[in-house]
Amino acid sequence: MFNLKSLTVFAALAVLSVTAQDRNAIYACKNPWWDGPCRTFYGGRNECVNFSGSWNDAISSIRNSGGGNGWHCQWWEHANCKGLVYQNQDDANLHDGNGRFADRLSSFRCR
Ligand SMILES: *[C@@H]1O[C@H](CO)[C@@H](O)[C@H](O)[C@H]1NC(C)=O
Repeated sequence: MFNLKSLTVFAALAVLSVTAQDRNAIYACKNPWWDGPCRTFYGGRNECVNFSGSWNDAISSIRNSGGGNGWHCQWWEHANCKGLVYQNQDDANLHDGNGRFADRLSSFRCR
Protein backbone atom coordinates (compact mmCIF):
# COMPACT_ATOMS: atom_id res chain seq x y z
CA MET A 1 0.00 0.00 0.00
CA PHE A 2 2.80 2.40 0.95
CA ASN A 3 4.63 1.62 -2.27
CA LEU A 4 1.57 2.15 -4.40
CA LYS A 5 0.93 5.52 -2.77
CA SER A 6 4.53 6.64 -3.30
CA LEU A 7 4.36 5.57 -6.90
CA THR A 8 1.17 7.57 -7.42
CA VAL A 9 2.70 10.72 -5.91
CA PHE A 10 5.82 10.24 -8.00
CA ALA A 11 3.76 9.84 -11.18
CA ALA A 12 1.76 12.99 -10.38
CA LEU A 13 4.96 14.99 -9.85
CA ALA A 14 6.41 13.66 -13.09
CA VAL A 15 3.33 14.80 -15.00
CA LEU A 16 3.54 18.26 -13.41
CA SER A 17 7.20 18.68 -14.28
CA VAL A 18 6.68 17.56 -17.89
CA THR A 19 3.79 20.02 -18.18
CA ALA A 20 5.91 22.85 -16.82
CA GLN A 21 8.66 22.20 -19.36
CA ASP A 22 6.48 21.59 -22.37
CA ARG A 23 4.15 24.54 -22.06
CA ASN A 24 5.07 28.20 -22.02
CA ALA A 25 3.15 31.26 -20.87
CA ILE A 26 3.10 34.64 -22.51
CA TYR A 27 1.42 37.79 -21.23
CA ALA A 28 -0.32 40.34 -23.43
CA CYS A 29 -2.31 43.53 -22.91
CA LYS A 30 -4.53 45.50 -25.24
CA ASN A 31 -3.01 48.79 -24.12
CA PRO A 32 0.62 49.98 -23.87
CA TRP A 33 2.55 49.69 -20.57
CA TRP A 34 0.63 46.60 -19.47
CA ASP A 35 -2.62 48.47 -19.19
CA GLY A 36 -5.63 46.14 -19.25
CA PRO A 37 -7.39 44.20 -20.39
CA CYS A 38 -4.55 41.67 -20.14
CA ARG A 39 -4.37 37.92 -20.54
CA THR A 40 -1.99 35.01 -20.20
CA PHE A 41 -1.82 32.68 -23.20
CA TYR A 42 -0.23 29.24 -23.22
CA GLY A 43 1.47 27.27 -25.95
CA GLY A 44 3.39 24.05 -26.27
CA ARG A 45 6.87 23.87 -27.74
CA ASN A 46 6.71 24.83 -31.44
CA GLU A 47 2.94 25.12 -31.24
CA CYS A 48 1.43 28.03 -33.16
CA VAL A 49 -1.34 29.67 -31.11
CA ASN A 50 -3.73 32.20 -32.63
CA PHE A 51 -4.76 35.32 -30.79
CA SER A 52 -8.39 34.78 -31.62
CA GLY A 53 -11.58 36.73 -31.10
CA SER A 54 -11.16 40.18 -29.60
CA TRP A 55 -7.41 39.56 -29.10
CA ASN A 56 -6.68 39.44 -32.81
CA ASP A 57 -5.04 42.66 -34.05
CA ALA A 58 -5.52 44.24 -30.61
CA ILE A 59 -2.31 43.70 -28.59
CA SER A 60 -0.15 46.67 -27.54
CA SER A 61 2.16 45.12 -24.88
CA ILE A 62 3.57 41.61 -24.99
CA ARG A 63 6.14 39.51 -23.22
CA ASN A 64 7.44 35.99 -23.01
CA SER A 65 7.04 34.90 -19.39
CA GLY A 66 9.30 31.86 -19.84
CA GLY A 67 12.54 33.53 -20.93
CA GLY A 68 14.22 32.57 -17.66
CA ASN A 69 13.43 28.92 -18.44
CA GLY A 70 15.02 29.12 -21.88
CA TRP A 71 11.90 29.75 -23.95
CA HIS A 72 12.08 32.04 -26.98
CA CYS A 73 8.93 33.32 -28.70
CA GLN A 74 8.05 34.76 -32.08
CA TRP A 75 5.05 37.03 -32.59
CA TRP A 76 3.35 36.92 -35.98
CA GLU A 77 1.37 39.33 -38.07
CA HIS A 78 -1.12 36.73 -39.34
CA ALA A 79 -2.86 33.61 -37.97
CA ASN A 80 -1.05 30.27 -38.27
CA CYS A 81 2.30 32.03 -37.64
CA LYS A 82 2.43 33.67 -41.05
CA GLY A 83 3.35 37.09 -42.39
CA LEU A 84 5.86 39.37 -40.70
CA VAL A 85 7.54 38.12 -37.55
CA TYR A 86 8.66 40.06 -34.48
CA GLN A 87 11.11 38.69 -31.94
CA ASN A 88 11.48 41.20 -29.12
CA GLN A 89 10.76 39.07 -26.03
CA ASP A 90 9.44 41.91 -23.90
CA ASP A 91 7.85 44.97 -25.45
CA ALA A 92 5.76 47.26 -23.25
CA ASN A 93 4.70 49.45 -26.14
CA LEU A 94 4.37 48.07 -29.63
CA HIS A 95 3.25 51.51 -30.81
CA ASP A 96 6.66 53.16 -30.43
CA GLY A 97 9.47 52.86 -32.98
CA ASN A 98 7.94 52.05 -36.34
CA GLY A 99 4.82 50.70 -34.62
CA ARG A 100 4.60 48.01 -37.29
CA PHE A 101 3.23 45.34 -34.97
CA ALA A 102 0.91 47.46 -32.82
CA ASP A 103 -2.66 46.12 -32.93
CA ARG A 104 -1.45 43.74 -35.61
CA LEU A 105 -0.33 40.51 -33.91
CA SER A 106 -2.42 37.45 -34.73
CA SER A 107 -0.44 34.44 -33.47
CA PHE A 108 2.67 33.33 -31.58
CA ARG A 109 5.00 30.38 -31.37
CA CYS A 110 7.49 29.57 -28.62
CA ARG A 111 10.27 27.02 -28.46
C1 LIG B 1 -5.80 29.90 -36.54
O1 LIG B 1 -6.56 30.78 -37.34
C2 LIG B 1 -6.64 30.36 -38.70
C3 LIG B 1 -7.35 31.45 -39.48
O2 LIG B 1 -8.56 31.81 -38.88
C4 LIG B 1 -7.38 29.01 -38.76
O3 LIG B 1 -7.43 28.56 -40.10
C5 LIG B 1 -6.62 28.01 -37.90
O4 LIG B 1 -7.35 26.80 -37.86
C6 LIG B 1 -6.44 28.54 -36.50
N1 LIG B 1 -5.58 27.61 -35.75
C7 LIG B 1 -5.95 27.12 -34.58
C8 LIG B 1 -4.96 26.21 -33.93
O5 LIG B 1 -7.01 27.39 -34.05
